[in-house]
Amino acid sequence: MEKSEKEKKESAFPSPTPTLSTPRDTLFSSPPQKQFEFDRQVAGVFDDMIQRSVPFYWENLKLQISLLKRFLQPGDRVVDLGCSTGNFLLQLGKGVEGLQLVGIDNSPPMIERAKIKGEAMGVKIEWIAGDFLTLPLPKSRVIVANYTLQFVRPLKREKLVKKIFDALTPGGMVIVTEKIISGNSWLDRAMVEIYYDFKREMGYSDYEIARKREALENVLIPYTAQENRELLESVGFRQIETLFRWNNFATFIGFKPEEEKGRKN
Ligand SMILES: C[S@@+](CC[C@H](N)C(=O)[O-])C[C@H]1O[C@@H](n2cnc3c(N)ncnc32)[C@H](O)[C@@H]1O
Repeated sequence: MEKSEKEKKESAFPSPTPTLSTPRDTLFSSPPQKQFEFDRQVAGVFDDMIQRSVPFYWENLKLQISLLKRFLQPGDRVVDLGCSTGNFLLQLGKGVEGLQLVGIDNSPPMIERAKIKGEAMGVKIEWIAGDFLTLPLPKSRVIVANYTLQFVRPLKREKLVKKIFDALTPGGMVIVTEKIISGNSWLDRAMVEIYYDFKREMGYSDYEIARKREALENVLIPYTAQENRELLESVGFRQIETLFRWNNFATFIGFKPEEEKGRKN
């Protein structure tokens, strides 16, 4: 059957949470007026944008949830920092019952969309529109920050990672996904080219790729894989592993050590 014009405009890559139709991301097909920010315009196309800009986005969320299914107990709390439109928590809530789920994002339009999707899917989640740098974090078994720390200025990033560590219960897990650089200039160029090939395959034009890159300059600040691991280690995380990696994207997990008997920190 012939698709209507409206359907054609909507994403060609439907997400596993298709409760809110997401128009196709064409934000960078004309010159952007400002630096990139998670405003109403971005929130409106976010679900299309993320799955066409982040390789293996849904597969990576699914992998994290498979791991957490084996780690979490009923009643455990999971906090998602920079939850955007709620994809991770919605999938987790659908897959594992009895968890306390909290999503924090300082973009009100993102939280609005997360709420609508949560209601439509019947998944109970506490959505908080606020700044995770200043809000107190509740005691949690798992704290997730997918594609989010990269938007936090380096000086504040370290403090935030320490705050995450402090908010976890002993034995708790952090999951951090980041866009990364390599530190080798040839490899960096090659990884960026490979990444842009991915974006072209996802339907972005060279013009859109270049404009988005300019808008993200000084907004998204990537670290190397080693810097990310060292940052986690420096605040106390141990058994740090790379759960997932594709080219210039990686997911790290780390554990807060169990308290040793008889020892007070
Ligand atoms: C790339 S998106 C994260 C994607 C999301 N985790 C996912 O997997 O779909 C980054 C998010 O972090 C949020 N963010 C950035 N800085 C923040 C802060 N200081 N406090 C709360 N949210 C923040 C942005 O509003 C944005 O929604």
